[in-house]
Amino acid sequence: MGERVLIFDTTLRDGEQSPGISLDPLEKLEIAEQLAKLGVDYIEAGFPVASQGDFDAVQAIARRVEGPGICALSRTHLADVDRCWESIKDAGRSRIHVFISTSPSHLEHMLRMDQAQVLKEVRQGVERARSYTGDVEFSPQDATRTPMDFLFEVLQAAVDSGASTLNVPDTVGYGIPWDFGQIIEEVRRQVHGEYVISCHCHNDLGLATANSLAAVERGARQIECCINGIGERAGNASLEEVVMALRIRPDIFGGLETGVRTEELARTSRLVARLTGYPVQYNKAVVGKNAFAHESGIHQHGVLAERSTYEVIDAASVGQVGSQIVLGKHSGRHAFSSTLKDMGIEISGDALNLAFARFKELADRKVQIEAADLEAIVAEEKGGHAGERFELLGMSVSASTGQNATASVEVADNGVKAAAVADGNGMVDALGKALSQATGVRADLTGFTVASVTGGVDALGDVVVTLEADGRKVSGRGISTDIVEASARAYLNGLNRLSRVREKFSNSETP
Ligand code: KIV
Ligand code: ZN
Repeated sequence: MGERVLIFDTTLRDGEQSPGISLDPLEKLEIAEQLAKLGVDYIEAGFPVASQGDFDAVQAIARRVEGPGICALSRTHLADVDRCWESIKDAGRSRIHVFISTSPSHLEHMLRMDQAQVLKEVRQGVERARSYTGDVEFSPQDATRTPMDFLFEVLQAAVDSGASTLNVPDTVGYGIPWDFGQIIEEVRRQVHGEYVISCHCHNDLGLATANSLAAVERGARQIECCINGIGERAGNASLEEVVMALRIRPDIFGGLETGVRTEELARTSRLVARLTGYPVQYNKAVVGKNAFAHESGIHQHGVLAERSTYEVIDAASVGQVGSQIVLGKHSGRHAFSSTLKDMGIEISGDALNLAFARFKELADRKVQIEAADLEAIVAEEKGGHAGERFELLGMSVSASTGQNATASVEVADNGVKAAAVADGNGMVDALGKALSQATGVRADLTGFTVASVTGGVDALGDVVVTLEADGRKVSGRGISTDIVEASARAYLNGLNRLSRVREKFSNSETP
């Protein structure tokens, strides 16, 4: 066994801070359960003081998800730390992550504090956290733009007050690998005591993975990262990239190991993409659709003769091999649910009945049903009925060249039926207007993409829409073999998110 590098996943905290992402507690729980299957060491489940919704989600994860340590983020304010502990105290292993900004720009423009006040805050926040648990992480926000002497002083204060993990966040993605590696080495030299050193890299210059690896090379033993590299602005270091780099180059990393079950990477990536509405770019390393596709004849020839000629990763080792499920229109409920169980998907009750009905509908229209199809319909039914306010009961659309399209829709609003008819500039526009009328929720459609879940003419269409209202941005996702119906589902999913998001941001102050 090599030495361990801890994988601290912050998809549900920093990742969820990506513009337009708003996960409800059940969606967060579903992702957390998959992260536990993936084998991450810590799940940063949220920032409990941000809203009641965030608190509930963190608490549900702490109570239900087994395996990884469950962490939540807190400012140094004592009341924040108390609330943070309240949300995670029921987990098998709980960690409080305390942070405060330390760079001159943040001190002047955001905190309006001097260095002495920041040091006092660090001591009081970490000591309070330590009074609850021995597992306390401390982060000096914007560390890479903090004068080094002050950074060491702050980190020393945190260890002396009881922090067991010192994180070095490159909050604005300013680091360059050899320079960031040097900071990690200097921290280890200058800050005395027992602690694990961690890195948290943002991707503003496209260097988050490289910076994280440079940190590991200089002694970091925890990497903070997100599935698909999502996160504030350009995102965080991508979990799948850092894990695979450590795995593929033991010669460079001296046999350092993670506990990640890499065969679960592709599935985790698909789940996060689906629930967040953030599609994965085709050429994304490790989990992109094209990560193992070879276009040129020479490359194809090479790979057919011997895979390693043009591939450093075996697709199967990251779960990127399309498994075909032997299910068809004659399959019964039992076969359906036991196939899902074999795939590691837990679903029961109403959500199972609804997913089975969707599966039957799909089997009538599609010859080959693949794992990705099943994951997509199950995710939609699980998510779609997690206390959603609006449900699509029916729709029809007509359009002809040179004429406005007309859509009529019927929806249930908390079980009460409502219908509307509207004209629009094209089918999606007409549907959007009719749905807005029927639900009473106005929003502008500012983004629309359609992709297929798998290949073939009968593939499921996967539509993602971006809706904006009151300065807020949300995404909505819908799937169907009929892309017009997928569009209506996506639009309604977005309207449901908009009504949820209003509650969520009622008391928001995200880091
Ligand atoms: O980027 C950052 O500085 C953070 C901290 C809260 C760790 O996300
Ligand atoms: Zn961050």
